[in-house]
Amino acid sequence: MRIDIISCVPNLLDSFFAHSILKRAQEGKFVEVVVHDLRDYSVNKHRSIDDYAFGGGAGMVLQIEPIAGCIRALQAERAYDEIIYLTPDGELMEQKMVNQLSLKGNLIMLCGHYKGVDQRVRDLFITKEISIGDYVLSGGELAAAVLADSIIRLLPGVLNDETSALTDSFQDNLLAPPVYSRPFDFEGNVVPEILLSGHEAKVEEWRYEQSIKRTKERRPDLLK
Ligand code: 6GU
Repeated sequence: MRIDIISCVPNLLDSFFAHSILKRAQEGKFVEVVVHDLRDYSVNKHRSIDDYAFGGGAGMVLQIEPIAGCIRALQAERAYDEIIYLTPDGELMEQKMVNQLSLKGNLIMLCGHYKGVDQRVRDLFITKEISIGDYVLSGGELAAAVLADSIIRLLPGVLNDETSALTDSFQDNLLAPPVYSRPFDFEGNVVPEILLSGHEAKVEEWRYEQSIKRTKERRPDLLK
C-alpha cells in the first residue's frame, strides 16, 4: 500500500510515522507513506496557498490550484483508489470503514486547514470525506495520522501474533476484555484466578463474557 498525505504543515506528521509500529511497517515495505508540502505546489512566488473567501467572512480558504497541482502530479505517477479529504463534516470514521480502506492499494489523504478547502476541490477531486469524531481540530493532520495508523496496523505482516488486530475492540462490535500481567498480587489487588488456570477454553469463555459485560456497561449502542 502507498499513502500520500497532502498538508500545509507536513512537519506535524513526520515524527508520527517515524516510530514504533508505523516505522516498522515502512521498513518492512508493507506500506510507503509520503508526506507532501502543499506550498511546493503554490502558483506564486510568495508560496502562498490560501486566500480570502468570496462573499467575505472570517477565515482563509485553501485554494484549488496548489491542491489540483499536487493531486494531478501524483495521479500522473499511479492510479489512486481513493482521494480522501479529512474534514469535520465528513462521514464518521469507524472500524468497518478502516477495514475496507486497508484492502486498497494507493490512497491520497488531503488535510484541511483554516476554513477548509475551496468547494471545487471536493467536487472535482475528492472521492471520500472522513471525520474522526464530533469535535473540531485545528487541522486535518491529526485526523490523517489517526486514519493512516488504523489502516496500516491492519496490513498483513505489520502486526505479529502477539499484537494481532483480530482481538481488537470493535472488530466484532465488542470492546476488548481486561488484560493483566505480573505481578499476580499488587498491594492486595490480585489477578482473576481463571487466567492462571491454564484452561484455554475457560479463559476464552471468561474473556468473551467480560467483553459482553464491558460493552453492555460502556457502549450499549454497539450491541444494537
Ligand atoms: Cl478530519 N478535521 C478537523 N479539522 N477537525 C476534525 C476532523 C477533521 N475530524 C474531527 N474533527
